[in-house]
Amino acid sequence: MIDYPPRIQLAHTPTPLQPLRRLQQQLGGPLIWLKRDDMTGSTLSGNKVRKLEFIAAKAKASGCSALITCGGIQSNHCRATALVAAQLGLQCHLILRGLPASNNISDGNQLLDELSGCTISYHSPADYSATLPALFEKVTSDYSNSGHQAFCIPTGGSDGDGLWGYIAACQEMAEDFAAHKISPSAIITASGSGGTQAGLIVGAHLLGMQTDIYGINVCDDESYFVNKINEDIRDWQAKYPAQPELEMTDAMIRIIDGYVGEGYAKAGRTVIDTIALLSRTEGVVLDPVYSGKAFDGLLQEIAKGRFTNDSDIVFVHTGGVFGLFPYKAMFGQ
Ligand SMILES: Cc1ncc(COP(=O)(O)O)c(C=O)c1O
Repeated sequence: MIDYPPRIQLAHTPTPLQPLRRLQQQLGGPLIWLKRDDMTGSTLSGNKVRKLEFIAAKAKASGCSALITCGGIQSNHCRATALVAAQLGLQCHLILRGLPASNNISDGNQLLDELSGCTISYHSPADYSATLPALFEKVTSDYSNSGHQAFCIPTGGSDGDGLWGYIAACQEMAEDFAAHKISPSAIITASGSGGTQAGLIVGAHLLGMQTDIYGINVCDDESYFVNKINEDIRDWQAKYPAQPELEMTDAMIRIIDGYVGEGYAKAGRTVIDTIALLSRTEGVVLDPVYSGKAFDGLLQEIAKGRFTNDSDIVFVHTGGVFGLFPYKAMFGQ
């Protein structure tokens, strides 16, 4: 039995576990099961909602009436946080990396951020990287001056609190596997800020699952994620000292590096083709920044021979479909 901290139910769970049989018929290889975490909701959806169930509960329990977070201009995490705040009647401010388009027409997640009624500050990438902690301090103090205590959420909701979301998801998957009578050898996810993978690693450990957890990084590199995931797990242990000890070794952090392409949020031709392939073969839509880039990496790994002796593997569809729309010009080329 896992002893969970307080949680506000926001995600529609359990999400389905869907076998991609038509894709397997076409490509061969192992049967890939998709954990449909893109279906945790409609606009308030994806992996971030699972993390926010625990983060928002902690914010409310600490008496906070405002949430502050940060991310790229098309951040799914920022969109989810802004909509959670609206749902719970909290104030919200987003610190976004990137300036609005010159025609001032918002697209994808940015449009949803604006609809949520949150306040937003836009910063050039250089300004954002150089001053992020000071930007958080300034917004916190502005809220304080207007009588609101603010709760600061790190990039992607990835820290010792957000980790709980994927510990719970791991438990849900253990139940899915029993229901489908399968024992997948691997659970694979896109890693962007590391919290999803970190939660899955801790969850698999707490549950004694014999399934290896893999992250396909969509930015940075293997050593960055080994550090970041270790740091998030240490933060979880420090914040929740009554939880069982977890002896971490770097070998438990399996990163499949090599699919970042030209950089974060830059999608190459194969990513776009993979998104189109899965859409027409299975009716499932991925996004170019996270799930599509990682799934494309997974298909390339299988083509090179990885996982080909395995009968069942799982890929977590972490959502992000709104991030597809700013890339519309790349489809149909
Ligand atoms: C759609 C989507 N998938 C995957 C990720 C990666 O998750 P994490 O940041 O927990 O590594 C993110 C966010 O970074 C995301 O928005």
